[in-house]
Amino acid sequence: MPAQIIDGKAIAADVRNQVRLDIEQRISAGQRAPGLAVILVGANPASQVYVRKKREACDEAGLISKSFDLDENTDQQTLLDLIEDLNDDATIDGILVQLPLPDHIDSTLVLEAIHPDKDVDGFHPYNIGRLAQRMPVLRPCTPHGIIHMLETIGEKFKGRHAVVVGASNIVGRPMNLELLLAGATVTITHRFTKDLATHVADADILVVAVGKPGIVKGEWVKPGATVIDVGINRLPDGKLTGDVDYATAAERAAWITPVPGGVGPMTVAMLLRNTLQAAEKHGGL
Ligand code: GUN
Repeated sequence: MPAQIIDGKAIAADVRNQVRLDIEQRISAGQRAPGLAVILVGANPASQVYVRKKREACDEAGLISKSFDLDENTDQQTLLDLIEDLNDDATIDGILVQLPLPDHIDSTLVLEAIHPDKDVDGFHPYNIGRLAQRMPVLRPCTPHGIIHMLETIGEKFKGRHAVVVGASNIVGRPMNLELLLAGATVTITHRFTKDLATHVADADILVVAVGKPGIVKGEWVKPGATVIDVGINRLPDGKLTGDVDYATAAERAAWITPVPGGVGPMTVAMLLRNTLQAAEKHGGL
């Protein structure tokens, strides 16, 4: 039987709608709308699309987004100074610096300059550390969104084997921590892993976040598995595709995310939720 499709667009729309209602309530109670600063350095076409989606979603949910589009050649100190100003700005609850940054800028330094209470991407070592120690505060948007999707389809995690393919700071590593927190038994694979197929074949829950079309073959997927494809790759014909061979995987899996319309919308929805959470912690100014 073909897999059921996990409709990330619909699940994300529910999250965004809830954020909108919560913000309406805040405003009726005399509090201000949450504020998100979105910083883009340079003109990476994919980043421009993602940032535009984030800003549009803010407008729709009633958050105030402030845009900072900086030139490709912006020097590191200018960016650090801007972050310092935003850390001190009481109308800003969240600061997002879209990655990747140009090569002349040290991303680690920049991400660590964001105050952990305003780190709505959840990338600051403080927030990653809290997640690692089972006391999450602001959680990385994509992995948290995937957990929310899995909960929505009734995933129980405990006693289940989750395999994460890809060990990036943005997705793979925090995904590993999220699945562990949820009670799954977790394997994480990366570029030095031998025999990826054997690991994939043992996954009840498979999360693939590499950025290479077809890195996971559909025939490797365990019958009845849940497959979450985080990859968003543009093919020469302009179409988007994930990291998993969708058609063959969908013949074996019980549940699968499409690309586009799967994980992507969840990342944006969780960013709004994190910004609201940061505003609530920040106080009712
Ligand atoms: N680049 C790719 N994914 C992300 C993300 O979730 N947040 C930021 N800031 N940059 C990204």
